[in-house]
Formats: sequence, structure tokens, C-alpha cells
Amino acid sequence: MKIGIVYYSRTGNTRKVAKILEEKLKEKTAEVDLSEIEHVKRPGFFAAGRASMKQTELPIKNTDFDMGKYDVVIVGSPTWAGRPSPFVKIFMNKAENIKGKKVAVFGTGMSPIDKREEFNQIIKNDLEHAGFKTVDNFLLLKFKKGQMMDGEQNIDNFLNAILKMKNE
Ligand SMILES: Cc1cc2nc3c(=O)[nH]c(=O)nc-3n(C[C@H](O)[C@H](O)[C@H](O)COP(=O)(O)O)c2cc1C
Repeated sequence: MKIGIVYYSRTGNTRKVAKILEEKLKEKTAEVDLSEIEHVKRPGFFAAGRASMKQTELPIKNTDFDMGKYDVVIVGSPTWAGRPSPFVKIFMNKAENIKGKKVAVFGTGMSPIDKREEFNQIIKNDLEHAGFKTVDNFLLLKFKKGQMMDGEQNIDNFLNAILKMKNE
């Protein structure tokens, strides 16, 4: 099974989770590619918040996101003003071979996990609008000062559901 993990990370939390997922999937003998969406310029806190609220396009360096080789794609984003980062939306719109591609989502944030349902709904709508097929498999993680505070207990269930997806 081949899995692509694509994520954006401004301060490292989402990258940390992406690497944990990669490692655990490899232990479970899946083939995994990790791709970081790279900003051209790191936005400051207020610029990031404003861009997220207005869903402004922010330029990224990557030009090649071919999803054709993956059975499942996992998309990861920080929460900015309750929403996914606009950098992730740019990826969705640039990515190729996504028609009907199954996608699961993870999101990091600083507020409690049960207060971030809106994030899941928005990213699901964005992904489906771009052409992906979301599979209602979401993993939310809470971070504080670079430390994972909550959500770690849900990682294995999230990954086990992904590993079952190939034949569904
Ligand atoms: C502009 C901005 C807005 C944010 N808004 C939220 C928010 O609405 N809810 C939340 O839980 N965390 C919010 N955060 C915190 C980040 O989502 C959190 O620190 C995340 O783990 C950062 O991921 P990263 O280190 O991969 O960039 C915000 C951070 C930034 C920079």
C-alpha cells in the first residue's frame, strides 16, 4: 500500500505529527512519501491569521504534487483562525490525479480538540471541492509550546482505518 502524507507546518508541530505518522505506517509495512508544502515566505502571525480568514492565496515553492501513485493521501494542516492554513488549499488546487483519491486529514491546534469540529468540516469541503474523496477519518491534535498535549491516543485508530482503506 502506498501512502502520501502532504502537510504544511509554520512552526514545526504539524511536521512532528507527519513524521510520527510516517514512522508508524512504515512499521506497519506501508510505503510512505512525506511532502512538505513549502511557503515562499513565512507569514507572520497576523498575516497568517488574516490570510486564513479571507482564504487568500499565499505562494508556495513546490510545483509538483502528483497524487496518482498513492492509494491514500493524508493531508495535515495547522488550525489558523479555526480553519486550515491557506497553504494547504493551494496544494489541493495544484495537485494532479486527485479525482476520487481517498484522503484522510490531521490537524494541529492549540485549542481543545472537541472545540475544532469546524476545522474538519471546512477542510472536508475544500478537499471535496478540489476533487478528493474524503473518508471521514480525522485526527486532531492539541499542542502547547511545541509539545503534544492531546490526541496522541487516537493516532493508532486513525492509521488502522487508513490501512483498511485500500480495499474499500
Ligand atoms: C495565525 C494563527 C492562527 C491560529 N489560530 C488557531 C485557532 O483558531 N485554533 C487553534 O486551535 N489554534 C490556532 N493556532 C495555533 C496553531 O494551529 C498551532 O500552534 C499549530 O499546531 C501550529 O502548527 P505548526 O507548528 O505546524 O505551524 C493559530 C496559529 C496561528 C499562527
